[in-house]
Amino acid sequence: MTKLFLSLSALLLVLIGVAAAKDAHDHGYLQVQQQYLKDYPASSKLIDVKTQQLFPSFPQAKQGDTFRVERCISCHVPDIATIGPQEAAKRLSADFFKYEPNAQAIAATNHLTGVHPAVVTQQYYDAYGQNAVATKDGFHPYNAAAPSSSSSGGGQSSTASTAPTGITGFLPTFLSPAQNNGSALGIDQTGCIVCHNGGRLELDQNAAHLNLIVNPEYAWTEGAAMYYQYCASCHGNLGEGKIGPPLNNQDRLGFFNEDYYYRCIEYGMTDFEHIGSVMPNWGSIAPDYHADKTVDKVPANPTRVLSEDQINLLVQFIRHWENYQTLP
Ligand code: HEC
Ligand code: HEC
Ligand code: HEC
Repeated sequence: MTKLFLSLSALLLVLIGVAAAKDAHDHGYLQVQQQYLKDYPASSKLIDVKTQQLFPSFPQAKQGDTFRVERCISCHVPDIATIGPQEAAKRLSADFFKYEPNAQAIAATNHLTGVHPAVVTQQYYDAYGQNAVATKDGFHPYNAAAPSSSSSGGGQSSTASTAPTGITGFLPTFLSPAQNNGSALGIDQTGCIVCHNGGRLELDQNAAHLNLIVNPEYAWTEGAAMYYQYCASCHGNLGEGKIGPPLNNQDRLGFFNEDYYYRCIEYGMTDFEHIGSVMPNWGSIAPDYHADKTVDKVPANPTRVLSEDQINLLVQFIRHWENYQTLP
């Protein structure tokens, strides 16, 4: 009897322990905010340490009676509404290099400049918006025609020296100054996920950073260059699909996370999900793959074509096709 009682209380203690640990984990933002208040003492007058919410202020952020809310600022610049976009942008970069243990490696891989954009000016929109032209330094020019313009006509149409058509940057049209009575929106008004993606309502770092695009500009320029070199022939110039399935499918983008997309590209037809297809393995060969001539349409690549970093960049590029409007 006492034995039963003891084991029951032990179980209860374990359960309480698990619950407490989970609670602390889900509230990882508290620690980050406390550190923030130590670093920026003036801010402690402005915010209580608690969950912070950002309501993006462009009209599309309101659908009927519901506002779209983001919780990235529970950890990052929680007083962004008060300090404004310029100061917030400075702190974002400063804090990243101060607190991220792998900052140097992440910065090198993603070509972070250490300068965070503060405002979506017309110039910024022209470089990264829906009518972006390939003039930026580092933006490798490539030729990709919009899919609609009579593509299957045999001869390659020579579209002269105009900028590639049909290629869209990552900024949605509704962020352009033109659509906001000429005023340039700050990152305090746009929110974060219009550029970065991520789990907008999540409060722990892992979940919030799932599907995160670390450097939207670099993922778009370099990612696009690689996509048009290796993938567009099968998946279409705008991800609309050809020999391979569409990659701009909103249901799939909303459903699958980075791991899935990474695996598809790394293992291709050597992994169970794509076995028997012509999707190349761009990285390694899946551990449990056995070549089978009755199933395989093409031989597996024996060696890596793309590095892990390159595949990550491609995943981020594909993620650019996820529309802000369709996020849950
Ligand atoms: C639970 C706290 C927390 C939440 C919520 C959170 N972040 Fe972070 N984030 C961090 C920390 C801590 C770092 C690393 C140090 C720093 O930048 O201050 C970081 C780093 C980043 C980086 C740099 C790249 C990287 O992987 O380290 C980006 C970009 C970023 N966050 C964007 C976001 C976006 C967008 C959201 C919302 C969708 C978000 N974060 C939500 C805590 C959080
Ligand atoms: C207009 C697009 C845009 C918006 C909106 C935006 N970011 Fe960024 N973010 C970027 C770019 C571009 C970089 C890469 C900057 C660089 O080269 O260092 C970046 C980098 C970062 C980094 C890494 C540190 C750094 O400066 O490189 C963090 C952390 C981050 N963003 C968090 C956020 C958070 C949190 C929000 C919302 C409050 C946000 N971002 C809103 C475009 C944006
Ligand atoms: C030779 C044609 C071909 C090339 C080149 C190609 N793919 Fe594929 N890809 C396919 C086919 C076919 C499938 C579907 C496989 C299946 O149905 O199992 C596929 C599937 C995928 C998927 C899974 C899509 C989903 O929604 O589940 C991703 C992601 C993908 N490819 C990315 C890429 C990337 C990135 C590149 C360039 C590095 C690339 N592909 C190059 C033919 C190709």
